[in-house]
Amino acid sequence: MNRVKRQITVPEFVCFKQQGHRISMLTAYDYMSAKILDEAGIEAILVGDTVGMVFQGHDTTLPVTLDDIIYHAEIVGRAVNHALVVVDLPFPTHLVGDQSAIASAGRILKETRCQAVKLEGGADQAGTIAALVSAGIPVMGHIGLRPQSVHTMGGYKVQRDEEQLLSDALAVQQAGAFSVVLECVPVELAEKITQALEIPTIGIGAGNQCDGQVLVLTDMLGLTKEPPRFVKKYADLHKIIADAASHYRNEVQTGDFPDSEHSYQ
Ligand code: KIV
Repeated sequence: MNRVKRQITVPEFVCFKQQGHRISMLTAYDYMSAKILDEAGIEAILVGDTVGMVFQGHDTTLPVTLDDIIYHAEIVGRAVNHALVVVDLPFPTHLVGDQSAIASAGRILKETRCQAVKLEGGADQAGTIAALVSAGIPVMGHIGLRPQSVHTMGGYKVQRDEEQLLSDALAVQQAGAFSVVLECVPVELAEKITQALEIPTIGIGAGNQCDGQVLVLTDMLGLTKEPPRFVKKYADLHKIIADAASHYRNEVQTGDFPDSEHSYQ
């Protein structure tokens, strides 16, 4: 039996809230990035359906399939030794009945080493969350801006309906979710939701009063051309990669690469 891994468990993740330990979460879709994030001590890695936009070049997350997400989750799961790994249920796997949601989430847990799923939805998805939790599948909710509903919501907009968001958050918790993402919610409302819940809230565009934060890795690394306003750029990898590529091209043109140091005699 392989017991070498010591990953953060779902109950430990929930306890972070009581301990006042703020949670950092980032997305990863590939082995190398997941390993770097894990070794940096990030508490949770999300194999998000943003893979559709970041990795596949689509303009929404809607085209991502269950097979796509399992492909990436299996790779990320193999890289991680420490972080909790959460995988998005892609559109519309959890919207066509509880059996479909359990079958899809079941495939994710069986075919990858990841420990939990995330699904977009509030009170409207409480029944499905409860069914997944009864099947032994840990669920992270996702309320506020729900990118899979971009067409219904009329774009990627800040969500301000306090009554709706509070009732979504409480319904998700009541259904058994172990945590909930709050996306594009005003700071004060995110704080109110965070105080009302026993489970950790993970904010993205929701201010600094949530129990944790999540960002899309390529956004915070400066690879995305025009990221949303809430993204802080922690590096400028776009420039670093572009400079390296044009430097390499110039040296190939001039014959400076490969030099004797990088050749066999
Ligand atoms: O798919 C994703 O990356 C997400 C985050 C934006 C929270 O759901």
